[in-house]
Amino acid sequence: MTDSQKGLAGVTAADTALSRIDGEEGRLFYCGYDIHPLAEQGSFGESLYLLWYGELPSRMALTVFEGLLAGERRLPAEVESVLRALPPETAPMAALLTAVSVLGQIDADGPNNGFQADIEKAGRIVSMIPVCVAAHHRLRLGLDPIEPDPDLSLAEDLLRMLTGERPDDVASKALDKTLLLYLDHGLNASTFACRVVASTLADLYAAICAGVAALSGPLHGGANEQAMRMLDAIGSVDRVDAYLDRELGANRKIMGFGHRVYRVEDPRASHLRRMAEELDGLHGEPGTYELARAVEQAMFARKGLYCNVDYYCASVYRSLGVPLDLFTPLFAVGRAGGWAAHVMEQHRDNRLIRPRARYTGADERPYVRIDQRND
Ligand code: ACO
Repeated sequence: MTDSQKGLAGVTAADTALSRIDGEEGRLFYCGYDIHPLAEQGSFGESLYLLWYGELPSRMALTVFEGLLAGERRLPAEVESVLRALPPETAPMAALLTAVSVLGQIDADGPNNGFQADIEKAGRIVSMIPVCVAAHHRLRLGLDPIEPDPDLSLAEDLLRMLTGERPDDVASKALDKTLLLYLDHGLNASTFACRVVASTLADLYAAICAGVAALSGPLHGGANEQAMRMLDAIGSVDRVDAYLDRELGANRKIMGFGHRVYRVEDPRASHLRRMAEELDGLHGEPGTYELARAVEQAMFARKGLYCNVDYYCASVYRSLGVPLDLFTPLFAVGRAGGWAAHVMEQHRDNRLIRPRARYTGADERPYVRIDQRND
């Protein structure tokens, strides 16, 4: 009997041509392109195209691609009525899971796993997830959903559908960059969940449901919301040490720190730290950045741990005025493009993902009939 590798740490479980992580050097690549120039000079749509087609688009190809996606940005009546039927306290990630499941039921191409059908469905999913997130948010506030505007970029339209106001260029570009940075990241837990489901030849929608479910947990996508809750609970720089003493003393994890793969700083964090500093105070009181920086420095001094992508993204979303419990759904908006790329990759060259478990239970023992067992 072989030992299991707890949490599959260090196990290579799939081949992918999508993203590559160098955990020792702190580098991330999408299809061979370093994340830094992509984030500094590119856009979410461009990186999405790259992941789906393997090459950077020409200007014309990108315009056509984004136009097609914008044309799919809508809220089907069936999804709206299911969202309206949810209890108002339904968590946004749970609502999103429900919405994606309904989207799968009303797509005529739902069960078709061919490349053309998959890429068309991927376009619909990536375009409709932000509409679903915004619609559920409006409905739980007792407001009607706002119609998408295909003339706007996805990031701009998402902020408008959430708030009812057209955001400025700074805010939409910032959101676009967070979506780009969240787009893909190797075989993280949610992407692995998608690939496992896709490997059974279940369809794209079923696989994306698995991704949404896996992302919702606080050790994964839920960490951006929890990191912000922590900063709110700490409240001021002079309380950082006492907070960390208490939490670390009780062996509790500090959300937004640590990473399974990176041994140095997560390369996405540097972009988000800079954005968090630049945007601080755009909405609400300034000071979140200063506090976040103090916690980051104290965590490094105490545990030698670096922050991950979720940590400063929390401060960025706060500055953009995004409600706390929508932080993780916005992560899903970005990551959905990566999930779809992995599902297509799995469908193109499939083998059922079916690892084994090391059995640690009782040795073989005789069955005793119920009337012969002691009470
Ligand atoms: N706070 C305090 N200590 C930590 C943290 C943290 N955030 N992360 C790791 N450590 C410590 C652990 O206590 C452990 O110490 P020990 O060896 O003395 O017991 C050591 O570092 C290794 O930690 P593991 O949990 O075994 O590392 P693993 O690779 O399994 O977990 C994970 C990685 C889940 C990201 C972990 O660092 C964590 O829970 N972080 C907080 C949640 C978080 O921010 N998640 C987002 C990750 S990025 C993403 O999903 C997009």
